[in-house]
Formats: sequence, C-alpha cells, structure tokens
Amino acid sequence: MTQRALELAEVTKIFDRRAAVDGVSFQLAAGERVALLGHNGAGKTTLFKMILGFLKPDHGSVSVLGAAPGSNAARRAIAYLPEAVAFHNALTGEEVLRFYARLKGEDPAKSAALLEDVGLGAAARRRVGAYSKGMRQRLGLAQALISPASLVLLDEPTSGLDPISRQNFYDLVEKVAARGATVLLSSHALTEVEARTDRILILSAGKLVADNTLARLRADAQLPIRLRVQGNDGAAGEIAARLGGTQVNGRSVELFCDPADKVARLAAIAELGPLVADIDVTLPSLDDVYRHFSGDEGAEG
Ligand SMILES: Nc1ncnc2c1ncn2[C@@H]1O[C@H](COP(=O)(O)OP(=O)(O)OP(=O)(O)O)[C@@H](O)[C@H]1O
Ligand SMILES: [Mg+2]
Repeated sequence: MTQRALELAEVTKIFDRRAAVDGVSFQLAAGERVALLGHNGAGKTTLFKMILGFLKPDHGSVSVLGAAPGSNAARRAIAYLPEAVAFHNALTGEEVLRFYARLKGEDPAKSAALLEDVGLGAAARRRVGAYSKGMRQRLGLAQALISPASLVLLDEPTSGLDPISRQNFYDLVEKVAARGATVLLSSHALTEVEARTDRILILSAGKLVADNTLARLRADAQLPIRLRVQGNDGAAGEIAARLGGTQVNGRSVELFCDPADKVARLAAIAELGPLVADIDVTLPSLDDVYRHFSGDEGAEG
C-alpha cells in the first residue's frame, strides 16, 4: 500500500500572467480519501485538469501512479466526475450509462448493477430530465466509475446537495474507497466534507496553505473557545466582574479562552457556585477553522 497514487511537485499554472495554481506539492498514497478545499477561483478545477492531462503545468510535474497525465496508463487509472455534469435529458439513466460504457470500451450490461450500486436502481428507466440534483450527481458518479479506477477525482460532487443527499453521497464514496481506490474530492466548504475524509488540503489563491487531518488542523489553528456563563437572577454583573468577561444580555457573560486554558477557566467558573445557572462551551466551528487557513476574503478577482 505504499505506492503513490498521485504525486505533484511544485506545480504551477499561469493564466494571463497570474498563477491559478502556485507551486503546489503533495502526494496521495493508495487508498487515501482526501478533500481539496478552496474558495471559488482558488484553483481546484485547474489542478484537476492538470492531473487529468487536459492542461499542462507551466512549472513542476504531476505523476499518476508513476505515469504522465494524459498517457494511456494514467487515463485508465483515473475516474473523473466533472464540476458541471450535464446529461441528455431525454435519455434514461440506464441509457446514459450504457452510452458511456460503450464509449469507454466496457460492457454495457454492467450498467444495471452500477445503477443499483449508486441507489438509482428504481430510477434506471426514468428520464434523466426528471432526476433531482442528488440523483444526477449519483448518475455522474456511476458514469465516472464505469471503468475500474485506482484514482477517483470528484470536482465539487456535493455542492448544492441537501445534508441527507450529501451523507448518502459520502456513503457511496466510502464504498469506492473500500475497494482500494484513492479518492480526491474538491469542495468549497469544510462543513461539506466534515469528518468524511482522512486528510484535508486547502488551496488559497492557488497556493496550498494546509495539508493535514481535520483534528490536526483544529489543533494547529489554536482558535479560541467560547464560554457562555448564564447567571442566576441578578448575578451576571458580579460574574462578569470576577471572570473578566463581557455581559451579553441581562443574564449571560461571554468569555473566550485558549484551548489549553479551558479546564482552568471552567474550574474558575465552578468556584462561583450559586451565582452560575449554566455553562455553554462552544468549540470553533469547521467554518472558523477553514476561514483561519484560507483567509476570509473571497479569492476571486
Ligand atoms: N482557461 C482559463 N483561462 C484563463 N483563466 C482561467 C482559466 N481557467 C481558470 N482560470 C482562472 O484560474 C483561477 C482558478 O480557477 P479554477 O476554475 O481552477 O478555480 P476553482 O477553485 O475550481 O473555483 P470554483 O470553486 O469556482 O470552481 C481563476 O482565477 C480562474 O478565473
Ligand atoms: Mg472549480
């Protein structure tokens, strides 16, 4: 399992004298599930296109299982779900898949089982024009998986899906990964990928600004924890004075602390005894963590 499914070394792509992808290096081991996050215009699709061999890097190198992008070996190894999948609306799901199977030299008879796999068995004979967004994404995934692939590239596959459809989609991705495939999927929000990937890469204005597990990113961000102390009647003023927090309404006091000081702060709050009615502890959200690494400003422009 030590073979590298994908290796990028100092990859740069320049459009109109601006680097859309800027000196990006990372490696994916076989079987890893990795999320590539970034704002609109961060360079995610451009990166995918270089891995696919549709675009040539201006600097640096890409290698897919040791082969050059776009070579026969690399193309056979990759399954790709593009950012905007469009199917012929008049065809049924099954007709669409049979069409792509023939195009890829695979047996069209595989289509039925594949549709079953992605949960479209019952909709196989329905026209794609009547599919929901989530169903189209599933059909897109089935289309990408017609040929067995060791590297699966999914460009914003869950964007616009509701939370349940997103969960279902990740269950499918897990099924694919369980067969040993490496999965690289892009998204514009950390909340969309949650804990469903082993590792998170963050692109900001073309640069790779983070590459780690979610737990590690959370720890490295060192974002403050919010404590909200609800006082018993009339006690908020005294709580604020003793803890040094801010009174947020008639009853509550808000304070922030470093993760390392959390236990000590909670102990200090507990010492206030009958003044305190309740305590809320809020960890930084996934959005806060993402914003910390990617920068607040939209990258486009
Ligand atoms: N063919 C092209 N010619 C000129 N500029 C391009 C081209 N393709 C992409 N760009 C520019 O490169 C930058 C990165 O674009 P890219 O599509 O890779 O971003 P992205 O992260 O996929 O964004 P989104 O989340 O909106 O899909 C953008 O500034 C974009 O305008
Ligand atoms: Mg894109």
